[in-house]
Amino acid sequence: PVVRLVDYRPSDFLIDRVELDVRLHPSETRIKAILSIRPNPAGRADAPLILDGDELRLLDLAVDGTALPPDAFAATPQNLTLFDPPRAPFRLTIETVVDPSANTKLMGLYRSGGVYCTQCEAEGFRRITYFLDRPDVLSVYTTRIEAEAGEAPVLLGNGNPVAAGAIPGTSRHFAVWEDPHPKPAYLFAIVGGRLDRVAEPYRTADGRDAEIAVYVEPGKSERAAFALDALRRSMRWDERVFGRNYDLDVFNVVAVSDFNMGAMENKGLNIFNDKYVLASPQTATDTDYANIEAIIAHEYFHNWTGNRITCRDWFQLCLKEGLTVFRDQEFSADERSRAVQRIGDVRTLRARQFPEDAGPLSHPVRPTEYREINNFYTATVYEKGAEIIRMLKSHIGAADFARGMNLYFERCDGTAATVEEFLACFAEASGRDLSHFARWYAQAGTPRVVVSGTYDAGGRTYRLDLAQSTAPTPGQPLKEPVVIPVALGLVAEDGGRLDAHSPRVRDDGVFVLDRASDSILFSDVASRPVPSVFRGLSAPVRVALDLSDADLLTLLRHDTDPFNRWQAGQSLATRLLVRLAGVSRPDGAEAEGLAQALLAFLRGNAEADPAFAAQVLSLPSEAEIAQEIAADVDPDAIHRARKAVRAHVGGALRGELMRLRDALASSAPYSPDAASAGRRSLRNMALELIAAGDSGAGAGLVAAQYRDADNMTDRLAALAVNAGLPPSAEREALFQDFYDRYRAEPLVLDKWFAIQAAMPEDGTLERVLRLMNDPAFSITNPNRVRSLVGSFALNNATQFHRADGRGYAFLADMVVALDGTNPQVAARLLTAFGTWRTMSAERRQGAEAALRRVASKPDLSPDVSDIVHRSLG
Ligand code: ARG
Ligand code: ZN
Repeated sequence: PVVRLVDYRPSDFLIDRVELDVRLHPSETRIKAILSIRPNPAGRADAPLILDGDELRLLDLAVDGTALPPDAFAATPQNLTLFDPPRAPFRLTIETVVDPSANTKLMGLYRSGGVYCTQCEAEGFRRITYFLDRPDVLSVYTTRIEAEAGEAPVLLGNGNPVAAGAIPGTSRHFAVWEDPHPKPAYLFAIVGGRLDRVAEPYRTADGRDAEIAVYVEPGKSERAAFALDALRRSMRWDERVFGRNYDLDVFNVVAVSDFNMGAMENKGLNIFNDKYVLASPQTATDTDYANIEAIIAHEYFHNWTGNRITCRDWFQLCLKEGLTVFRDQEFSADERSRAVQRIGDVRTLRARQFPEDAGPLSHPVRPTEYREINNFYTATVYEKGAEIIRMLKSHIGAADFARGMNLYFERCDGTAATVEEFLACFAEASGRDLSHFARWYAQAGTPRVVVSGTYDAGGRTYRLDLAQSTAPTPGQPLKEPVVIPVALGLVAEDGGRLDAHSPRVRDDGVFVLDRASDSILFSDVASRPVPSVFRGLSAPVRVALDLSDADLLTLLRHDTDPFNRWQAGQSLATRLLVRLAGVSRPDGAEAEGLAQALLAFLRGNAEADPAFAAQVLSLPSEAEIAQEIAADVDPDAIHRARKAVRAHVGGALRGELMRLRDALASSAPYSPDAASAGRRSLRNMALELIAAGDSGAGAGLVAAQYRDADNMTDRLAALAVNAGLPPSAEREALFQDFYDRYRAEPLVLDKWFAIQAAMPEDGTLERVLRLMNDPAFSITNPNRVRSLVGSFALNNATQFHRADGRGYAFLADMVVALDGTNPQVAARLLTAFGTWRTMSAERRQGAEAALRRVASKPDLSPDVSDIVHRSLG
């Protein structure tokens, strides 16, 4: 069944209060729900009451305490219908029973490593009790949880704890939680289990005393300290930057080891994939620390953007997700390096969102229809959604943006809102018409902006011509121009000052392109400038601007915008890589110009900003080059080209890279701060390039760094470079050593799985098949599956896209195998086929055959069925 935005109508009934009594049991958990229901004045007066369910079993039912006659209702696993419910407020009592241990979908109430937990977004609450499981039904919840005291000494719910105690004469105990803030069912959560806790007091800027805490597997509490610290910093930042205070007496974060996504913002009780909580220098990398900080912040920020103000319906998902991603990106930029953060965010956007938007799964940031909402937690909704907020801010300016946010928080607090209501706040705050800007939410596809410049020395003028277009996407054959803020500047060839100006460019350097084409005329341009456009990537577009190598070098050297300095290096490399991917025996010597540019850059900048330098040294990924080529892609050719360039650059820069490795080495104990992480990233980038240039020298450095590392970042970096060395017994011995050291650390072994699954060589598929039989692997744990199978499909272009089709066949097998137990994870894996139409002809054949084989399976889940049909469509 297809759900359509145009069909939205308010619920016929509302549920003001929910009283739950959950008696936890491994296989028979009973849930008694008392729902205070009333007809919705905005709904139909004579409608039946149809509550949602999913695999539910009804034990008992009563209206205002009286059992219903059998012909007054119908109960199936999917629905509970009252044919003629009271037309005045009433209390509906429902008792259901569920089996948490058998719940392999990890939606609703399930057990993870012996811990009871829940995941209700998007439609999981209906797997616990019958309900109006839609985000515009807001209720106040009281939850009583009961369990064996030995099995689940910790019992957590949403809101504030109000009572707890033993149940006399039994081995059981209980806790009662009350959440005063009305919320939709998808924000409901409970947790029960044996957990260790780290906590600290927190006083909000507006004077509320709260306790903030992180719960983890027993014995791992030192690994929770960083998450708690990140939480406190997130709370302060939201007070300072958005004026948002926390609103309960406690804030709890719980780490669980089986989780479909990253984390979940349940009110007052965030539940996390443990990968995004647990960190110690010995088990987590700098990247892990940064991810933990970002995701802790993201889920916390949802308290206002998502929870206090939620979504009217799931089409509005970007209202909370895009905005909250924007907020977490800004937090990380403030806490770390703004330029490096932006480069990372743009890399993610280009690696994940651009391909999605160019393929069969392309959809608008606000979709207009869906078959399975879980398939719309996408890079488009999240990352492009965040880009829209970023553009809104640059379009109307920071001051009006801040006013608009305040208006939104004030006006929409306590409501289930829409994108229109959100935009109305900014239209009002800025006095502008944002109806054209709103097209970003409705139109799918990545706009392409062609830019060209013309200098007139005589008239001392410079003209920039800009033209935008967007290719058709599924269901949208015709595209209209969108509002594109272009942050730009002109750079003098010698790096000196240019006083060029144009009335069409605002003081803050932004020009708004809102029609198909336009041009900007600059006057008083003393010498031929180099245009620097889309600074900071001011819009989620592809930019086509043909600058000469010399002009790109000018930008790499002199641009005042660090993002565009980095971009200039990337553009230089991309052009070379695309060219070399077109020849059968790429000659690395062609990279000499690039190598010299990078060398000059390093000499001037490396020590001042190592994190930024590491980004400049890091060549565009194989996936980015493939996107650039766009049709009849041969991943082997791309890999050969990239390898040749890396080998040449590594050789040419060897001396400087060795020097930098020494200069950046540190004897201080590990600290995850951004500056220290930046030095490690450049040292490790240097290691990678040295090894690319000379595998013998690389092997020696790898062995030493691996052995001497006092932290996971450096040890894992060595292991990753090891994976790229030519096959040898020593290479395998290092993998074995890593396994032996960390055999008791599943999250560390995930890194070991991921690195091996990404090895760009013939035997990798066999290796992956072998690793699936390793005792450390588990097909029911999403982290294990993503590390091994996901890494193979997404980070190993040559092997997943093997010309013989075996990579595709393997993924199809995995999707089919997983669909029976965890459809969400299966569907997510299947999206790896998203670029199949851009591949070479024989690969397309293999991919299509694999997709058709999946499609032909009977009883596919809606999740997999939706993705497979759109992928083929
Ligand atoms: N709201 C969560 C977050 O963005 C993601 C939950 C996704 N859940 C799902 N079933 N698709 O942090
Ligand atoms: Zn989110």
